[in-house]
Amino acid sequence: MAVIALASASGSPGVTTTALGLALLWPRPVLLVEADPTGGSGLLAGYFRGTTTYAAGMIELALTSSNLADALSEVAQPIAGTQVSYVAGTRSHTQAGALRDLWPLLAVALAELEPTGQDVIIDAGRLGLVGSPGDLLDAADLALLVTRTHLPALSAARSRADALRRPPLDWHQSGVLLVGDGQPYSAREVATVVDLPVIASLAEDPESAAVFSRGAKPPRRFETGALSRSLQAAIAAIHSTIVRRRSELLEGAPS
Ligand SMILES: Nc1ncnc2c1ncn2[C@@H]1O[C@H](COP(=O)(O)OP(=O)(O)OP(=O)(O)O)[C@@H](O)[C@H]1O
Ligand SMILES: [Mg+2]
Repeated sequence: MAVIALASASGSPGVTTTALGLALLWPRPVLLVEADPTGGSGLLAGYFRGTTTYAAGMIELALTSSNLADALSEVAQPIAGTQVSYVAGTRSHTQAGALRDLWPLLAVALAELEPTGQDVIIDAGRLGLVGSPGDLLDAADLALLVTRTHLPALSAARSRADALRRPPLDWHQSGVLLVGDGQPYSAREVATVVDLPVIASLAEDPESAAVFSRGAKPPRRFETGALSRSLQAAIAAIHSTIVRRRSELLEGAPS
């Protein structure tokens, strides 16, 4: 389908949790890219609880002298029993500066994966950090700002939304992924304040989120729980958002 990038404006609304949850439920092979420059892979320390050692990741991509597409396939690690491969982030925030030149090249390499049948989900971390992967967000088919709905979260989201706003009928789209719709503000209110469309809402479900964020034991009925169901709905909404734009562009294209 496409390249989808997730980022936050402030706090820790659940970017890593949502990116991993989407990837694990994704209906096709998918590459999960940890591009958060904060370092200390949230995936290896969180979901894998430190049981999987860092073999290679973003910094090896930055230092490669070979073709980036080849390096990408060498660095990507499969998650057993799933259709997900992941590229681990840096070990330390001190490596963030070394990634700056990687982002524009990686944006091209990731876009070129689509014909191989592999989609891409990017954890871009918090916007505006040193080494933030702005090029990956700009090049994504869909860039999603993940936010909670309380006032401090919305205030930060609104101040960052400019960086994501796209002109109408741009190939690249952006929107908001809400965590905790209605707590206290609704999707409609958020869309008005942030001035970006709300693409989907993830349920507030701390027990299930802990499975993705820190490798907790899945609660009973995890697969049919609130978070899993809302992730499935988000996947459908992401898919239809991208497909709709592509057909709008085709209809608008000169014959
Ligand atoms: N849908 C959700 N419902 C309830 N809790 C959630 C949800 N998503 C994430 N969380 C919880 O919020 C906390 C932060 O999640 P996570 O690490 O994914 O956020 P983040 O935005 O990636 O943060 P950071 O900016 O630090 O990387 C974790 O404890 C996680 O379990
Ligand atoms: Mg994170």
